[in-house]
Amino acid sequence: MNITIFYPNKRKTKSVTFGIAHLVIDKLRCGDELYEFYLPQDMPHMCVGCYACFGGHPEKCGGYEYIKKIIDAMEKSKLIIFCSPSYVYHTPGQIKTLLDHFGYRWIVHSPDLSFMKKQALIVTSAAGGGMKSTVKDIKDSMNYWGVGRTHYIKQGVWGYDWNNMPEHFMRRIYKKVDRTVIKIKKSSDNVTPSIRVKTIFYIYRLFHKGRKMAEVDDNYWYKKGYVTGKPW
Ligand SMILES: Cc1cc2nc3c(=O)[nH]c(=O)nc-3n(C[C@H](O)[C@H](O)[C@H](O)COP(=O)(O)O)c2cc1C
Repeated sequence: MNITIFYPNKRKTKSVTFGIAHLVIDKLRCGDELYEFYLPQDMPHMCVGCYACFGGHPEKCGGYEYIKKIIDAMEKSKLIIFCSPSYVYHTPGQIKTLLDHFGYRWIVHSPDLSFMKKQALIVTSAAGGGMKSTVKDIKDSMNYWGVGRTHYIKQGVWGYDWNNMPEHFMRRIYKKVDRTVIKIKKSSDNVTPSIRVKTIFYIYRLFHKGRKMAEVDDNYWYKKGYVTGKPW
């Protein structure tokens, strides 16, 4: 399957999140495309709150040239992977900056609900603490983008790097990778959204259908035909 992956920096051989993500990729890719984005270089623009995207004109955003490439890659992918170590208990700022640019694509606003047919994987690691909140930082966006299924792999490292990881840590990692790959493969032919994603969709479909939200978003939902039927 084609995969889009985001890295928060250029650490490779030492990076635990990079190492785990590539164990997953090796089992899933089978010669398909891998679209790689290194942050912050591939999304250096910070959201400045111009609200162009929320107003229906994402192309007027100062970061659009970067966003466009990322959207194109994700559209061609069935799996979106985030390598996200825990930085001060949360996702690194460069990943948050990327997610901020996709706020206008939340189900509340103007989503692309073809993403309900995609899956996401969050790979996180921390010296000791902060992985739960780090996963949540990204999972909130995946759910509100409408991504059908979001998986995660968490690994505490207690000061180790990928290239000096003890054997018993590696054994645990291999098990987590295998379990996750099975789950991803099981859904990949016909991804149906999780209960959480369906619930968010139904709530906001009701609001948009009744034209209770921002006019630009309600019009978008009607134009896309999302106010009737199910996009999965
Ligand atoms: C700026 C910064 C902040 C960090 N904050 C935390 C933290 O809050 N909790 C923690 O357990 N580890 C923290 N760490 C350690 C990393 O999460 C940990 O080393 C992780 O395994 C790095 O992932 P990587 O090898 O994929 O780069 C921090 C590291 C950096 C560079």
